[in-house]
Amino acid sequence: MNVKYFMFLFCPLAVQGQTTDIVQTADIIEVKTDNTSMIFTAKTDAPVFFQYWGNRIDSTADFSLGRAVEQQLFPAYGGRYFLNPALRLTHEDGVLTTELVYIDMESNSLDENRTETIVHLKDKLYPVFVDVHFVAHKAEDVIVQYVTVVHHEKDSVRIANIASSYFPLHAEAYYLTHFYGSWAAEMQWKEERLTPGTKVVESKKGVRTAQSENPSFLLSLNRPAEEDFGDVYAGALAWSGNYKLSFEFDEPGVLHTLGGLNDFASEYYLDSSRVFRTPDMVLTYSAHGKGQVSRNFHDWSRKYALAHGDKLNPVLLNNWEGTYMNFDEKTLTDMIDNAADFGIELFVLDDGWFGNRFPRDDDDAGLGDWQVNKKKLPRGIGYLADYAVSKGLRFGLWIELEMVNPKSELAQKHPEWVVKSGERDVLTMRNQWLLDMTNPDVQDFVVQTFDEIVAMSPNISYIKWDANRHVENVGSEYLPAGRQTHFWYEYVQGLYAAYERIREKHPDMEIQLCSSGGGRVDFGALKYHDEFWASDNTSAVDRIFIQYGTNTIYPVQATASHVSSSPNHQTGINVPLKFRFDVAMSARLGMELQPKDITGSDYRFAKKAIREYKLIRPIVQLGDLYRLISPYGENGWASLMYVSKDQEQAVFFAYSLKYHNPTYFETKLKGLHPGKRYKITELNGRSNHSSFYGNDKTFSGEYLMNVGIRLRLYRPYSSAVLLISEE
Ligand code: DGJ
Repeated sequence: MNVKYFMFLFCPLAVQGQTTDIVQTADIIEVKTDNTSMIFTAKTDAPVFFQYWGNRIDSTADFSLGRAVEQQLFPAYGGRYFLNPALRLTHEDGVLTTELVYIDMESNSLDENRTETIVHLKDKLYPVFVDVHFVAHKAEDVIVQYVTVVHHEKDSVRIANIASSYFPLHAEAYYLTHFYGSWAAEMQWKEERLTPGTKVVESKKGVRTAQSENPSFLLSLNRPAEEDFGDVYAGALAWSGNYKLSFEFDEPGVLHTLGGLNDFASEYYLDSSRVFRTPDMVLTYSAHGKGQVSRNFHDWSRKYALAHGDKLNPVLLNNWEGTYMNFDEKTLTDMIDNAADFGIELFVLDDGWFGNRFPRDDDDAGLGDWQVNKKKLPRGIGYLADYAVSKGLRFGLWIELEMVNPKSELAQKHPEWVVKSGERDVLTMRNQWLLDMTNPDVQDFVVQTFDEIVAMSPNISYIKWDANRHVENVGSEYLPAGRQTHFWYEYVQGLYAAYERIREKHPDMEIQLCSSGGGRVDFGALKYHDEFWASDNTSAVDRIFIQYGTNTIYPVQATASHVSSSPNHQTGINVPLKFRFDVAMSARLGMELQPKDITGSDYRFAKKAIREYKLIRPIVQLGDLYRLISPYGENGWASLMYVSKDQEQAVFFAYSLKYHNPTYFETKLKGLHPGKRYKITELNGRSNHSSFYGNDKTFSGEYLMNVGIRLRLYRPYSSAVLLISEE
């Protein structure tokens, strides 16, 4: 259905330095959520202009005047456009330019919360058609943008680059927040003031693309992003492959933000009449700071980008750091016994359970041979899964289906499935090769193997899907010689096709997203998963920083955070068990250690902490996040809280990162109802002395949010958890 919106008289218009004063009628196109609007103006056969994105505007008549300088909705390389374009393609006759003009638009209500607006554009001369799609999610103030292209030239056109989204902003200053990192140090928060020129955040790794930089960003206008006030724009690309976010600060001081596929070595030859679709860019804006931006992303993803986002995730024990690959049946059944005693709900058997000719006793063999190792587990996975269930736990299993060890039966049987660059050496990483997910046979193998693995027992209800290397010496035996550059796009499409088929067959399976830790934390992969492993770094101190960055964008409910042993296996740091629990309890709590090693008063403490986590779990996993003190601040504190949607309950966390004498911790709370009275009870206490002077007392929300609370926390790695309940 084509719906022409309002028609207005169109006044003088400047097109990239060019002004026209021909009076013509124009459409005003609005993409609206409950609190925000994006507004474009369009007239037939002329470019569509991006007028506005910000607080919601209901009376749009003034936009008919146009503005002195205007940016296009989706600027292509051609005409007078000289900045980084959203689209650049070469036509079949070799012409390098494209000039997009307006055909019309349509608006479709998808359901009560979502409306899709499609702006139809075409090239002025060539039969190339570009649709820019916006799906407005009203309640969450999220707009999902993507682009489709089709052409009817006889031969293929070569797409050099195509963005998912473009938007211009104009302010005195721009502050970009992005999340850099690496293995065991993912999602490190970095905010910087942009200067003229182009800042690029990207990945060229193909797989584990979120590990060096996450495909997400915040942009604050005029000042560094504050939690509760100021204009903050944000985006997160839903894509698990190469991506590029670029922020071009031009001569007149406009900031042009492009996000989408990385154009690096990725020319795409699009055949006539075939549709090319970009990944989704998930956009949100708030006039009330980055706290609201995070809550928008969380609410949106729980509903639209997470499997079973309305349910609570279980407390689990993963055996990885407890045993690595060194286990037998007895080791695992003992762990299950201990886990049951602690009140754990799910046991996950990690890497090392498979391979016979090439047993998976280390990471150099067996990957790809997905048959249970008979020596380690003579009675099979079924026995273990039944055992867990008989003890009141669910059972989960680790897999890594996209990869193979050279020392495996699979690598010997299907050398043509391995990603390789012609006759060059195939490089190993963690002793493994990558399978070519562009190949439909590999996709079938992945789907069938998943089926066979979960068919080992009806009691397998959780899968941890890992991926432990990125792409080097790229190339595919499946893709034609002239289309090797399609690899980057088609790998991810192949992966998503496999995920789709698996999800169709196993809708209730809980699946954890893992890629050497947080290497694949993005909304593209996340929608097929229930949760993700945020990092292989289980040190509670580092996790405070990793989770601070991660939960700026991604939902807390999905953020797996495990208590591990001390000294920590990655960092060597010793921190108290209480601190380790208090950090893990601020996300999806689990344990990853040998539970029998927790003894004496630690044992009693851990058991109580797990019990208390179950009390606060709905608030942590489904409530609203309020960041109170950033760990990146100068004072060596970190603090955050979660508030239930009905504001009846909240849970507060505070962490001391250094020695503080003689100063003390003080903060104002957020998100409570000013008129309600709340009782505050300390959880996870280890001594008779509460760190909060008002333990077990009641306070008004007004008092807590204006006066605040003080805590006795001065030692390094001391911490507190407070339950705040309406009286
Ligand atoms: C990397 C993951 O991040 C770890 O948790 C663990 O599953 C190992 N792989 C197993 O090989």
